[in-house]
Amino acid sequence: MTTQSASAPAASTQPAPPAEAWRGIAAEDIEEVSGKLTTLLRRRSRRLLQDLLRPYKVLSTSILLLVIVANLAALAGPWLVGVGIDRIPELLKSHQAGPLTVVIVAFAASVIVQAVATRYYVWGIGRLGGKVVFELRRRLFVHFLRLPVSFHERYTSGRVISRQVSDIDSISDLFDEGLAALGSASFSLILVGTGMILLDWRLALVVMTGFGPLIWLSAWFRRESAVAYRQTRDTIAKVIVQFVETFGGIKAVQAFRRERRNEDIFGELNEAYTTATRRSMQLLAIFFPGVTLVGNLAIGAVLLYGGYLVIHHEMQLGVLVTFLLYLQRFFDPLIDLSQFYSSFQAAGAALEKISGVLDEPPQVAEPIEPAGLTEAAGGRTVRFDSVSFAYRSAVVLPDLNLTIPAGQTVAIVGATGAGKTTMARLIARLYDPVQGSVRLDGVDLRELSDRTLRREVILITQENFLFSGSIADNIALGKPDATRTEIMAAAAAIGADDFISALPKGYDDEVGKHGSRLSAGQRQLISFARAFIAAPAVLVLDEATSLLDIPSERLVQRALQTILAGRTAVIIAHRLSTVAIADRVLVVRGGRIVEDGPPSQLMAGDGEYSSLHESWQQSLA
Ligand SMILES: Nc1ncnc2c1ncn2[C@@H]1O[C@H](COP(=O)(O)OP(=O)(O)O)[C@@H](O)[C@H]1O
Ligand SMILES: [Mg+2]
Repeated sequence: MTTQSASAPAASTQPAPPAEAWRGIAAEDIEEVSGKLTTLLRRRSRRLLQDLLRPYKVLSTSILLLVIVANLAALAGPWLVGVGIDRIPELLKSHQAGPLTVVIVAFAASVIVQAVATRYYVWGIGRLGGKVVFELRRRLFVHFLRLPVSFHERYTSGRVISRQVSDIDSISDLFDEGLAALGSASFSLILVGTGMILLDWRLALVVMTGFGPLIWLSAWFRRESAVAYRQTRDTIAKVIVQFVETFGGIKAVQAFRRERRNEDIFGELNEAYTTATRRSMQLLAIFFPGVTLVGNLAIGAVLLYGGYLVIHHEMQLGVLVTFLLYLQRFFDPLIDLSQFYSSFQAAGAALEKISGVLDEPPQVAEPIEPAGLTEAAGGRTVRFDSVSFAYRSAVVLPDLNLTIPAGQTVAIVGATGAGKTTMARLIARLYDPVQGSVRLDGVDLRELSDRTLRREVILITQENFLFSGSIADNIALGKPDATRTEIMAAAAAIGADDFISALPKGYDDEVGKHGSRLSAGQRQLISFARAFIAAPAVLVLDEATSLLDIPSERLVQRALQTILAGRTAVIIAHRLSTVAIADRVLVVRGGRIVEDGPPSQLMAGDGEYSSLHESWQQSLA
């Protein structure tokens, strides 16, 4: 129940909590649902695994062969011991140790072969694992990068981190420890079983009777640990999500004195995880001794019955010794198999989640044959062609038709929630329209390559994300091959030169995490410089100057006029001074354009814009 209360606050901050599905659901339900999905899901994981292993056919085959050789050699050892023991009585009579030397040499050879083969297959598996995990991590990262903003809105960064770190880790763990043990255990189970039947079927039968309880025990353990395991994964995922959310928003947490609250939530989640882990350990604590007990009982039974057979000269002593030695090798793998069952399961579940992400289509997909754009001087025409758009279900833009001719500067004003930002995002193709199209010089944005799109359209928002690195690096993002002179010219044009030069290391100053060492206004100036140097055909500013003080805004305003010359611009602004430089103003309400015209004309009318203008004037006075 602790988990129930703990998940409530998480749900309020994330619209679609990932763990919703397991809240209050009984283990049986989970098993039933997972059973239904299993066939479909496993196929996806298997496809991914096959794909990952394909380049390493030779290596995988060699590993398999080495595992078989190592196990055969391991099987030869006990058999040779038996053979040797059976020779002893006859050698006692003849006082000749010669024939025994052959057995001993063969034994030594089998031990060496086993050691060498094991060394190489363990090494091979490690190598294979390293390559597969490397490739998987790379693919995942690249794929996450390509997934659209809409995916990342619902897939929290905590889950992204879970995939990249803990899921990859469990697959890596499987290769590091699980797989070698698993492969070897399966083979030795089969080989030793066959060997025992060939040696003496009656004794083998005695061993088999121990199998009933073992199978039951293993089935119980697997079932229970599957449930317990899922719980540990779900709870650790929540711990990570909470962790990431708290420290991603550490400023808000401290500003609102939410430390105690987050501490409490984290405490509960942490406890839920610990409880889940304890359950897994309890299961192991029952299972291991159980298997050992059955194994030892089997040894006793074999000794009893085998001894009886030997005494009655129905079996040679060497065979009994071989048998007893085999027996150890028979039950050990069973423990190994079950022990690595959870690590196997972990890797399976991880692979499943990863393949799920990799199957996620890059929604804003690149066209296979991108359309070209002709050279443009003086910006490009932006057109909304009967565009309707909804984030999930609620329609934000019902039916938008709008043409912005090349070179025009358009200001969009309207109340909060009117849909201005949404329009900006559609122009930058962060989302695709549900219906209709957004066009650049008549070409649907969906037909353009990412490269072209990013070159032609730049969106600047308030969230001026800076990457760790120097200021110069961050400005050069807009044009990777920019020279230092160009970078400085861009900063100067935007009026950022003064504050940058005043920094301890000037343009080489590190901006810190997310630009934390700069003020919001300074970050904004840098993002302007970044756009300036990129020189896109279409520039979209979404309340981009709202964080600047009046003098800085004046500076940027002047710079904007330089930047905007010769390109199409869409400016979403709250301030009159910004709107005033526009050729045309659009007033948006409820996702529709309700006024459209040059500022002077709208000002003269009696619509929304003129009243807005009036209140602006008053606020200035
Ligand atoms: N990422 C999103 N997911 C779901 N709904 C959103 C998202 N962004 C905005 N909305 C909704 O779309 C509507 C328009 O928002 P927006 O375009 O940001 O308006 P504006 O920029 O004019 O304030 C609002 O009702 C808002 O709640
Ligand atoms: Mg907005």
